Amino acid sequence: MREGTAPTIQRLDYQQPAFWIRKVDLTFDLDPAKTLITSKMQVERNAAVAHGPLRLHGEELNVLRVLIDGSSVSFRQEGHELIIDNAPDADFALEIRNTCCPEKNTALSGLYTSGGSFFTQCEAEGFRRITYFLDRPDVMAVYTVTLRADQAKYPILLSNGNLTDSGKLDNGRHFAVWHDPFPKPSYLFAVVAGDLVAREQRIRTRAGKDHLLQVFVRRGDLEKTEHAMNSLIASIVWDEARFGLPLDLERFMVVGVSDFNMGAMENKGLNIFNTSALLASPATATDADFARIESIVAHEYFHNWTGNRVTCRDWFQLSLKEGLTVFRDQEFSMDMAGSPSARAVCRIQDVRQLRAMQFPEDSGAMAHPVRPDSYSEINNFYTATVYDKGSEVVRMYQTLVGRKGFEAGMKLYFERHDGQAVTCDDFAQAIADANPGSALTTRLDAFKRWYSQAGTPRVTARGEHDAAARTYTLRFTQHTPATPGQTDKQPQVIPVVMGLLDRHGAALALNAAGDTETVLVLDQADQSFVFENIDAEPVPSLLRGFSAPVVLDDGLSDAALLVLMRHDTDAFNRWEAGQRLALNRILAALRAGQPLQLSPAFIESMRGVLKHPDLDPAFKELALTLPGESYIAEQLDVVDPQAIHAAVMAAQSQLASALRDDWAAAFEAHQVQGGYTPDPASSGKRALANLALSMLVLDAQTTGDTVWPGKAYQRFKDASNMTDRVGALAALVNANAALAAPALERFHALFKDDALVVDKWFALQARAPEADGRVFARAKALTKHADFTLKNPNRARSLLASLCMFNPAAFHRADAAGYVFWAEQVLAIDAINPQLASRIARAMDRWAVLAEPYRTAAREAVARVAAKPDLSPDVREIVERALA
Ligand code: PHE
Ligand code: ZN
Repeated sequence: MREGTAPTIQRLDYQQPAFWIRKVDLTFDLDPAKTLITSKMQVERNAAVAHGPLRLHGEELNVLRVLIDGSSVSFRQEGHELIIDNAPDADFALEIRNTCCPEKNTALSGLYTSGGSFFTQCEAEGFRRITYFLDRPDVMAVYTVTLRADQAKYPILLSNGNLTDSGKLDNGRHFAVWHDPFPKPSYLFAVVAGDLVAREQRIRTRAGKDHLLQVFVRRGDLEKTEHAMNSLIASIVWDEARFGLPLDLERFMVVGVSDFNMGAMENKGLNIFNTSALLASPATATDADFARIESIVAHEYFHNWTGNRVTCRDWFQLSLKEGLTVFRDQEFSMDMAGSPSARAVCRIQDVRQLRAMQFPEDSGAMAHPVRPDSYSEINNFYTATVYDKGSEVVRMYQTLVGRKGFEAGMKLYFERHDGQAVTCDDFAQAIADANPGSALTTRLDAFKRWYSQAGTPRVTARGEHDAAARTYTLRFTQHTPATPGQTDKQPQVIPVVMGLLDRHGAALALNAAGDTETVLVLDQADQSFVFENIDAEPVPSLLRGFSAPVVLDDGLSDAALLVLMRHDTDAFNRWEAGQRLALNRILAALRAGQPLQLSPAFIESMRGVLKHPDLDPAFKELALTLPGESYIAEQLDVVDPQAIHAAVMAAQSQLASALRDDWAAAFEAHQVQGGYTPDPASSGKRALANLALSMLVLDAQTTGDTVWPGKAYQRFKDASNMTDRVGALAALVNANAALAAPALERFHALFKDDALVVDKWFALQARAPEADGRVFARAKALTKHADFTLKNPNRARSLLASLCMFNPAAFHRADAAGYVFWAEQVLAIDAINPQLASRIARAMDRWAVLAEPYRTAAREAVARVAAKPDLSPDVREIVERALA
């Protein structure tokens, strides 16, 4: 039975727990139908809190007995709590025995089975689905875990920490005992039991300690773990070198599982990964997959310090660990990429992701601060805001205090808080205290508005040159739009990394010292900065490297943007200038309601990029890719997804045809010879070749040419790696070429036994550019495909998130069929896996900005879902916020 409405939890209501649990001994008798759990806890009253009953969390459990100091004790159960009214005042031993049913656990939270093995997922509140506990991150305990299971079915038995004992039992069963010396919150607990194999590597770190690294997967997947292992080793080396943070465990284990709600999980010493974030081979994974695996392996490893050694006091502080750890994995990926240009490519990709996902969130129904003020279901707050905007906030600290200053701040943070559960304020204070007198420290209270104010700040910049005084004055204004529950916003502290260029693109000195780049710190609604000795009107290059998560209106003319695009020393701003030129044209056409026509000047500038002798192929590919439809939508007050799609398609086909010969030359010039490696240089070449091929096939559709579709099909058949193969397939499918159907069929036949590749097959079809409703019809039909299931999150997302969240023109239909489909699927998934359902539910976050007839129909669909009485609290919170 589900509760109708879940209570709202408020950040300011935080109170320490009435009891602490210092030690836990857990014994699992593992059985898919009924697992028996015995928990022996060492409990003490928290003297700092008023005397009260012991209230333990528990969900979907059967309690068998409760003992205090060996004698049975009376208890009551209320909702999801087990309450002991007369708990002793002195320290006591609490023993609870209960059962749960892993094989029926389709929510994938708590203890569940997947592919015949057992796995756990405890963040945020899954531990309470295993046994009764104070399941909150500020209760930290030392765990000893005994696992007992059938030896033939479950030869591998894993939990956190070190293996201290193992052996045989009667009836073909065996056992293993694990002890984790580090006190940890329950959300970092993990168990794995199954028939798995491991890639192993022994390493000796800088500190001279030996460690065993293991990556566990199903039999047959071992060859696909090499990249993950290499990524893990690189992460260990990097964290020691960059932040002085060593691996603190003798054994570090990583496990892959096919059924998983998220990317991966940082359980202490036993990270559990969605196989999509772990397994890669050249034949089955793309360059993007390789890069994603590297960054997620690093992310989970980095949590060992930022999250595990220092954890969150409560879930409102989630960005304390997630924002910081995303920042760390982004820095790692940039350092791994190497060259300045490859670093810029990483940065551009991260910003593109932020703008595509976080910006819409920040202006929609689910807008919330990086540190939210309230929630009803915490799983709904693992968001782009908490993760990616949170990471931008951490990046701003580094920009304000410098790289060395930031490292000093991190050091102080660990000196003060190692072993504790703390808050975002504690982090801010440590960085500030390590940098007295810095631009951060003198504005700390104002800077912390980044944690409390939702919404993307709008910054306007206008320059004025005074020829007589030889000065250039830059005036900035800022405001943050209202968001649900927050109407009045105060100015944010915004670091603007900038430079000035002359009309020919040369960098100008900004001060007497001759610096050509500086950081302006905005902290008022309206303020100006004056540069001296400026002879002629310069071109300002503002917000270099995207130094703050804001929307900037600098009012630059196309001529000025062209100067930046050709000459800026900052590669991010060179890319940005090109995107702005494209965006300006698309927006002008949309606002005028006229068909889009690219100007010859724009086309020539794109040709210049494509043929440029020095630019990296990876950078060219990003510069030649038009802004995404969701980012374009964000620039408009009223969104017509069909009009946006038509404009983007028009721009694309004009670029395809105007640069036809140059695309062909680029395709030929960027073939990678030799064996596959996912390094930035080769993946950049493949990316540009794939873009060129897709342009050529697209153009062939209009000209009737059959050569390029034929070449694409040949390349698809002969490809020696997945990047080239799926690139050629996408070129055919996206252009709706006649050869798309046979290619799709062949692809499925080749890879039908590889679930991660079949996911690509579904996603590719559901993400294809819509034309005449064909893509929607096909996606809908694919829900009936034998390989489709709502039970596997990767598979469900590959079709449904692709269609409803990443293909606006296929989803938003005048006949509302997309919305009807969405409602059906959300309700069907909700009965299986509420977390997954609520992610898909978020496709409707931005219904209120849609043009008619979409707006009314979308609202009706949301209201129909909200009217269902037995929704999960997860989906209920999303649809109710959407309607509020
Ligand atoms: N904490 C995980 C991460 O960011 C994400 C996660 C959250 C995984 C909740 C599972 C459940 O690395
Ligand atoms: Zn994380």
